Amino acid sequence: MIRESIVTTLGPDGTPHIAPIGVIVEAEGLVIAPFRPSATLDNLIARRHAVVNYTDDVRVFAGCISGKKRDWPVRAAERVNGVVLEAALAHEEVELAELREDAQRPRLLCRTVHAVNSAPFRGFNRAQSAVIEAAILVSRLNMLPQEKIDTEMAYLAIGVEKTAGPRELEAWGWLKARIEQFRVSGKEASA
Ligand SMILES: Cc1cc2nc3c(=O)[nH]c(=O)nc-3n(C[C@H](O)[C@H](O)[C@H](O)COP(=O)(O)O)c2cc1C
Repeated sequence: MIRESIVTTLGPDGTPHIAPIGVIVEAEGLVIAPFRPSATLDNLIARRHAVVNYTDDVRVFAGCISGKKRDWPVRAAERVNGVVLEAALAHEEVELAELREDAQRPRLLCRTVHAVNSAPFRGFNRAQSAVIEAAILVSRLNMLPQEKIDTEMAYLAIGVEKTAGPRELEAWGWLKARIEQFRVSGKEASA
């Protein structure tokens, strides 16, 4: 099973790094599998700590992937050298237990040293799921045909139109703008 989460790590100078990552749930722990090159990979290997954040604020996913907003509020973690996303409903503070090397996508098995519930889960929302799916499409803009992106966005828009609140609408707008920017410029933004 994969949980779409926000992984926070610290860079070489202690700057927080925030990245949407699908964390794989295994019997021995949580597996973080970044594609090279990845700041999350470098930070986790160097510092051996990370925080896996579970949030229903999908603007964090959309903001990071679209480049519209990456500097989300964080606070110090309790048991590891890292930071917790303020928008997290729950989080796990983890340490690197095993590095399974791979040229393209190493797998980092992490053990949870501290798990916290900060706020209640208030149920599923179709617009939130749609934003996550759209964020994945946006992270693959240079790999997917334009027609597939248009078809999938048209379908995902139904859930957004019917069920979104202000946060989901803002996130959706950022992703649509990123797709439009890509269509015009034809390449990934550096932001
Ligand atoms: C829902 C979601 C799940 C993602 N899961 C992964 C993942 O498992 N591995 C990965 O390398 N990138 C994943 N991405 C893309 C990363 O967020 C993006 O490439 C990011 O820049 C990671 O690189 P970084 O560690 O240098 O920040 C995911 C994106 C989204 C929206």
